[in-house]
Amino acid sequence: MAESDAATTGQTAAQEIDTTVPSIARAYDYILGGKDNYAADRAVGDQIINNLPGAPVIATDNRATLIRVVRQLVTEHRIKQFVDLGSGLPTAENVHQIAQRHDPEAKVVYVDNDPIVLAHGRALLEENENTTVLQADLRDGKEIYDNPATRALIDFGKPVAIILSAILHHLNDDEDPASLVQYWVDKIPSGSYVFISHFRSLNDPRSVEIENVLQASFGRGRWRTDDEILALFDGLELVEPGIVACAEWRPDEPLDDELTDWQRLIVAGLAIKP
Ligand SMILES: C[S@@+](CC[C@H](N)C(=O)[O-])C[C@H]1O[C@@H](n2cnc3c(N)ncnc32)[C@H](O)[C@@H]1O
Repeated sequence: MAESDAATTGQTAAQEIDTTVPSIARAYDYILGGKDNYAADRAVGDQIINNLPGAPVIATDNRATLIRVVRQLVTEHRIKQFVDLGSGLPTAENVHQIAQRHDPEAKVVYVDNDPIVLAHGRALLEENENTTVLQADLRDGKEIYDNPATRALIDFGKPVAIILSAILHHLNDDEDPASLVQYWVDKIPSGSYVFISHFRSLNDPRSVEIENVLQASFGRGRWRTDDEILALFDGLELVEPGIVACAEWRPDEPLDDELTDWQRLIVAGLAIKP
């Protein structure tokens, strides 16, 4: 894990970044083995890893699945537009890099409420006119949908992929994640896709512990049951193989080994709007 402090950030956003308060984006970056994190983030990351030693596996399985999904969306479903909500800090492979590798004209809007994501995203995207990063709260779908920067890239009259990767479990029940998904389902045309990956509870006592750590650190975090996760896809048709452990979502190579208990604690599903 990285011991260094976060890499240099852009001037404006850096002024807003409070490095003494842990952030979900930076703690996740730490768990993924990144360098864009501070002591407060590493303290929460270590607490999560102590309670759930499989946290790095969960994070890397999630990220690898996102890569496979985006590749499939571009190459098999011919999707050319992506809105990635709760996109996180740039890491080894990001949605725009995967999509634009297969279709250089693919458009990507990244949305995250953490200013550090904006700072790093801007630096990464300086010369990419098909990609933008917005600092916005995904609980305010209208602000994102109406934002001129979104509209400059995304034509909501044509199929779009809405990416909700490892983000809805950071919303509490009273924030109604299902309504948030529904907002976007109502905005996108038939033939569009929604991808969701989510912590799965399986009644594992360790997930209850982690829920407590997440609530204490960030005031949010929910591990949901299979039924609760399925309900998030209301009105959509799941694409094969349905909602499965991330590692089982169309792996590039056949899986030789049984999944570990950790790997069963994060699931993914891709669905089409009929
Ligand atoms: C666990 S990371 C997931 C990153 C990426 N989607 C992935 O799957 O690798 C969750 C991200 O959601 C962001 N986030 C949390 N709450 C948010 C909100 N209300 N609005 C926008 N972004 C949010 C965090 O800042 C963080 O970057």
